[in-house]
Amino acid sequence: MSLRPLIIDTDPGGDDAQAIMLLAASGMFNIRAICAVHGNVGLEYTRRNALYLKETAGLTCPVCQGASEALIARQPRAAYAHGNNGLSGLEFEVNEDKISRKHPWDVIYDEALHWGGELEIFAIGPLTNIAITLLRHPDLPNYIKQFTIMGGAATKGNSGAYGEFNIAQDPHALKICLSAGFKKFVMVDLDSCRTAFLTDEEAEYLDNLPMSNPWKPLYDKFAMAQRERRLLMTEEQRQKMGFPKGRGGCDAASAFVLAHPESAVLEDYFCLCETRSTLNFGQTIFDWRGRFREKPNVTLARSIDRDAYAAWYLEMLHSYDGGIES
Ligand code: RIB
Ligand code: CA
Repeated sequence: MSLRPLIIDTDPGGDDAQAIMLLAASGMFNIRAICAVHGNVGLEYTRRNALYLKETAGLTCPVCQGASEALIARQPRAAYAHGNNGLSGLEFEVNEDKISRKHPWDVIYDEALHWGGELEIFAIGPLTNIAITLLRHPDLPNYIKQFTIMGGAATKGNSGAYGEFNIAQDPHALKICLSAGFKKFVMVDLDSCRTAFLTDEEAEYLDNLPMSNPWKPLYDKFAMAQRERRLLMTEEQRQKMGFPKGRGGCDAASAFVLAHPESAVLEDYFCLCETRSTLNFGQTIFDWRGRFREKPNVTLARSIDRDAYAAWYLEMLHSYDGGIES
């Protein structure tokens, strides 16, 4: 089966790192570029994190940097969740001169034309880069086979009461994407991400990777951050705040849905995004009963097969145990 050409737009971010680890190991994708965007932390961090993750995954694609701010307005960032540098304080060296001089809005469109309708986009941060690409090239959706995002929340948000972080960082960008006319727009939202997690027993391996696994330095930082979080918050408080049971990771769960949609429940809905209210800024509103009389514009993930997710996650991470060919 031929590899699926893919652009990853990301704001690394610990769960972004896991998504890149998973997709690079899956053997299913021809990853054409990793585009950094503002989000969990500022672009000055996400661009170098993207470079580090690309090298750790053994990828050879370009890393480019896009928007450092939302189009119009955003909510506060998420250093509380990902550490001040976005990767739980992991220290690493990268040569930022290796960051491509081309911007995502040029790379995405050039790749879209090159692949003649086969290119997919996987966006796991705020959608600012994608929105700018659409504003500059309104015909982009004609050349995109599938646009998959981690974003939105059917019920409980994590940025305000209803907003999901990626969308609340740039709701105007989602609004542009929702009306752009993508042939297939898959939205893996917070609610569905909460159904995909590793149990503590399964996560034992993550906290004890062999020295030969290139992800060990980062996963050791994740384990430390996890222990600190568990000291500050009981499991019951975590559940109340909408965290998944066990070891979740929204972008990792979204990568699984991208690779294995057969392991998720997917339903088509018409979706809107709130961009004015201060109360529910960034909320994704789904027309559950068809009252808006509009054609569905998203395919929403409703749930993910947890066992299948956990097995795939562990298999992908194990595949690095012997190291990567340099
Ligand atoms: O709400 C979760 C999303 O926001 C994830 O993509 C995480 O990395 C943050 O960007
Ligand atoms: Ca992210």
